[in-house]
Amino acid sequence: MLRPALLAVSRSARTRALVEATPLTRPVVDRFVAGAALDDAIRATRELVAGGCHVTVDHLGEDVADARDADATVDAYLRLLATVRDAGLADRAEVSVKLSAVGQFLPRDGEKIALDNARRICEAAAAAGTTVTLDMEDHTTTDATLGILRDLRVDFPWVGAVLQAYLRRTEGDCRDLATAGSRVRLCKGAYREPASVAFQRRHEVDASYVRCLKVLMRGPGYPMVASHDPRLVAIAEHLAGDAGREPGSYEFQMLHGVRPREQRRIAARGHTMRVYLPYGDAWYGYFMRRLAERPANVVFFLRSLAGT
Ligand code: FDA
Repeated sequence: MLRPALLAVSRSARTRALVEATPLTRPVVDRFVAGAALDDAIRATRELVAGGCHVTVDHLGEDVADARDADATVDAYLRLLATVRDAGLADRAEVSVKLSAVGQFLPRDGEKIALDNARRICEAAAAAGTTVTLDMEDHTTTDATLGILRDLRVDFPWVGAVLQAYLRRTEGDCRDLATAGSRVRLCKGAYREPASVAFQRRHEVDASYVRCLKVLMRGPGYPMVASHDPRLVAIAEHLAGDAGREPGSYEFQMLHGVRPREQRRIAARGHTMRVYLPYGDAWYGYFMRRLAERPANVVFFLRSLAGT
């Protein structure tokens, strides 16, 4: 009950204004978000790298309704990538990009604008010596996002994509993307989706995740196992072994602030563990999806609002 309600308000401007105006929200947000400024992202990246992890940095923002906001997002990524390069972090830190933050939903030529903007970010990543992964948003964007991925990969074959195991289509998408050099971040999926397109029950989503993992691990691509679920992490390691994969031919990924000790443990076992690290002001949608994932986060949040 709580998850659909939180996901519904994650797109409500009124609730957004309310939650953002509450100063007590901030400490809870800080668990998941590096901070507002680029310096915060770089500092947190250095800390994660010192702990043995790799990083994918996300400049927060989504659903931009104005081309100028899309340009501002691109500029933020260009500054981020130049700083990553100058700080000597390019071998440890890449970036994650939401196409809706670079114009995908703009009413005129949104897809073309998003492709052009994503291309500028990829050029900057190539110049910095690192990579880009496209986040996946709700199911209405899946085909368009995979189309943009295909276009980008002509010039930048290292561009990665996220696939969401809760979508019924995803096992097929995994087959299509399990090709040499293809970087696929497999997650469960964080949006509110109808039963016509997405599995609704936890065990169905987990079973789909395992089917997708099998396809990715047996293929010649580079699977990125994005989950905090200990059962799925163990299954991924097992499937990788069965497929004759060594650590380094696939990687684990988790979100900043979620199971940080486990992140360091997995890295210490010789795996690549990449932490998804968001920064910036536009944290509302991201934060509400994190609350929806775990009821205990809501209790924590409400307690902090009550000042206890
Ligand atoms: P599950 O939700 O079952 O959680 C397993 C355990 O992990 C929980 O029992 C709890 O201990 C811990 N946990 C999980 N979420 C937590 C939270 N928010 N707070 C505290 N503890 C938590 N989704 C999407 O739709 N599009 C995308 O592009 C991405 N990108 C992405 C990148 C990366 C690197 C990760 C790790 C995840 C995403 N996601 C995403 C989010 C993903 O779809 C999913 O919602 C979350 O990862 C939670 O699912 P788990 O697989 O962790 O399992």
